[in-house]
Amino acid sequence: MDALIELKGVGKAYGHVRVIDGIDLDIPRHSVVSLIGASGSGKSTLLRCLNGLEEVQEGEISFDGEVISGPGVDHVALRRRIGMVFQSYNLFPHMSVLRNCTVALLTTGACGRREAEERALAMLERVGMRDKAGSFPDQLSGGQQQRVAIARTMIMQPQVLLLDEITSALDPELVMEVLDLVRDLAKQGMTMLLTTHEMSFAREISDKVCFLYGGRILEEGPAEQVFGAPREAATQSFLRRVTAAGRL
Ligand SMILES: Nc1ncnc2c1ncn2[C@@H]1O[C@H](COP(=O)(O)OP(=O)(O)O)[C@@H](O)[C@H]1O
Ligand SMILES: [Mg+2]
Repeated sequence: MDALIELKGVGKAYGHVRVIDGIDLDIPRHSVVSLIGASGSGKSTLLRCLNGLEEVQEGEISFDGEVISGPGVDHVALRRRIGMVFQSYNLFPHMSVLRNCTVALLTTGACGRREAEERALAMLERVGMRDKAGSFPDQLSGGQQQRVAIARTMIMQPQVLLLDEITSALDPELVMEVLDLVRDLAKQGMTMLLTTHEMSFAREISDKVCFLYGGRILEEGPAEQVFGAPREAATQSFLRRVTAAGRL
């Protein structure tokens, strides 16, 4: 299958510590790829390298046929095409839900206010939050805020979504409403690269799962293989630990 994103030998160090260590990875169009691995294995850093929040020091990242690592890349333009959602929703607290969704469209001049509001309301409808368009973030539950954060990212019509532990800050009873939304986006063909602690969700939704260990992809394969018959001892031990913690 044709890859939307391709990483070749990608490496990054903080000082002397190599946190991303020679990663090769293809993300096919319309596929869902999950990164799993212990805390500190480099999952977030890898996502941040993809949308230009971190600089890659080695190797190459291409996106839709274009090299997006290295100098001279317009990261602002790129971030409209590579959407990212974080654990800590990061909504603007002083703006209504509607304004949180329209602000990027308006500041980038993508469209006028009327069209921006129409698009925002349609997107809020899609995430089940249209009736909260006039509310402020602190009037919403964590799950609702995260759904608004996803709407705000999706409104820019990105070609890929990077989701970094987007349910980790939520109370357990709110996790499902966010996962249901991600599942819908996957069904609609959205290309996604995600990290999550929700292993049964990763197993269900992913076309491909990569187990990161010390900044490398130690094992990758279809979800059924990596979860059902992990080959590497480190993957087996990680999955035993998450199972013991009730996350599988
Ligand atoms: N800004 C930073 N400066 C120095 N070290 C960092 C920075 N960000 C992350 N790290 C280190 O990089 C490693 C990978 O971190 P991270 O990508 O956050 O892992 P994960 O998301 O898998 O928990 C960790 O050892 C972390 O301490
Ligand atoms: Mg992380």
